[in-house]
Amino acid sequence: MTRQTTVISPEALARQRKIMDEIRAHLAQTLDHTPLALVDTFGCQQNVADSQNLMGMLREMGFAFTDDPARADVIVLNTCAVREHAEKRVYGNLGALTHTKKANPAQVICLCGCMAQQSRVAEKVRASYRHVDLVFGPHVLWRFPELLKKVYWEHGRVFSIDDSPGCIAEGLPIVREDRTKAWVSVMYGCNNFCSYCIVPYVRGRERSRDREHILADVTALAAEGYKDITLLGQNVNSYGKDLPGGVDFADLLAALDGVDGDFWLRFMTSHPKDASHKLLDAMARCGKVAEHLHLPFQSGSSRVLRAMNRGYTREEYLALADYARRVMPDLVLTSDVIVGFPGETEAEFEETLSLVKEVEFDALFTFIYSPRPGTPAAELPDPVPRAEKQRWFDELLRVQNDISAQKHAAYVGTAQRVLVDGESGDARWPLSARTAGGRLVHLAGDKSAIGAFRTAQITDSNTWALFGRLTD
Ligand code: SAH
Ligand code: SF4
Ligand code: F3S
Repeated sequence: MTRQTTVISPEALARQRKIMDEIRAHLAQTLDHTPLALVDTFGCQQNVADSQNLMGMLREMGFAFTDDPARADVIVLNTCAVREHAEKRVYGNLGALTHTKKANPAQVICLCGCMAQQSRVAEKVRASYRHVDLVFGPHVLWRFPELLKKVYWEHGRVFSIDDSPGCIAEGLPIVREDRTKAWVSVMYGCNNFCSYCIVPYVRGRERSRDREHILADVTALAAEGYKDITLLGQNVNSYGKDLPGGVDFADLLAALDGVDGDFWLRFMTSHPKDASHKLLDAMARCGKVAEHLHLPFQSGSSRVLRAMNRGYTREEYLALADYARRVMPDLVLTSDVIVGFPGETEAEFEETLSLVKEVEFDALFTFIYSPRPGTPAAELPDPVPRAEKQRWFDELLRVQNDISAQKHAAYVGTAQRVLVDGESGDARWPLSARTAGGRLVHLAGDKSAIGAFRTAQITDSNTWALFGRLTD
């Protein structure tokens, strides 16, 4: 068997590198200052990782970075399409940029990411946001230098949003702003087509990076001293399906667990339909893999799960969560849930509530259903009024907040290994840290601890966080 997905050739990547050199030379000649770029990121960690590559390419083109849109020569909005609210925020930000463009007509404004990949968005930007110079989707991110060159050399607007099953570009330049936490994509795209979700339409088909490239990335990050490495994919459990050799995600985890260094490995997201016992056993066995599982359940009703095209039932989800806790008694289990899917009844919402009470997640990301044009669910009758959905949502939040508070209270009096990751701005607890399970800890202690694994005695807790002091 050979690889079924497209990997961009070294020659094509070398061509982009040559263009980066040309742009750097061009800007050095035409500007009287160091070119400045602003990259604003919306959406999930995949977009954060993509923005790090965009910044890497910008740096190769001679750019330094700024937070001030008025001073930026290039502005890039890397967008998310997962809910309507995400898109509204981007339109708001784009609108505000008419002022900076008016003050500096040479400013180049770019819109990229998942929202930009949709033709309805590109058409709206073409017609109503005329100050936007460059629109491109995730499939051509690796060709950003070529697209930007077109804007500079041809002085016209550039749109590149052709549909594509997607590709893999290895070795793109990267800027990592954080020194302790890093993201490593292991696969891209999604084949699941959950009926509410836009991601498969804008991110293309599932494709896995070669194991050797991932191993090299993690080895390099560990050697540089990164302490918290998250493997990314819309559904990491599909890792390897398009690769020769029959390697799966559990095998990948086992291989990465063998990398030298003191670091936590975590991953997101796992789809319950193919989160296997083999994977959970591998998690339990691998010392570096943090016992933290993000396993979105989306609904507690088997009827709604079927309408969502999720491929598992309530009972199957419960059995999986049960098995995970059996093999990892200290597992931190988190999840995503959608309230108010079209046609969901009050009784079905009650099933979601009862699942939440039964599983007792450590934390829950709760969303009200948002219709995404082009997805099957957006065509379904949706009779429940928004106010009613809001009432359900508030009730769910109340139930989960009580559970989170109880779970956090159980940490009080224990000692936890934590990764100190920054300052908190609160004089009583000047440091912030995370447990292996990703729980936020506000800490008393000295700034010199930032970036290190330490032991914390937990003294207090609330719904959202733990509080404590360093003991080593
Ligand atoms: N690939 C991940 C999720 C990506 S989107 C997975 O399968 O788990 C993150 C979360 O956004 C989803 O888990 C879902 O809960 C939520 N979401 C996706 N589409 C949505 C929509 N149309 N309305 C509301 N929430 C949505
Ligand atoms: Fe969307 Fe479902 Fe794919 Fe997750 S698994 S990205 S929710 S289609
Ligand atoms: Fe949003 Fe795209 Fe991620 S739609 S959630 S940024 S994959």
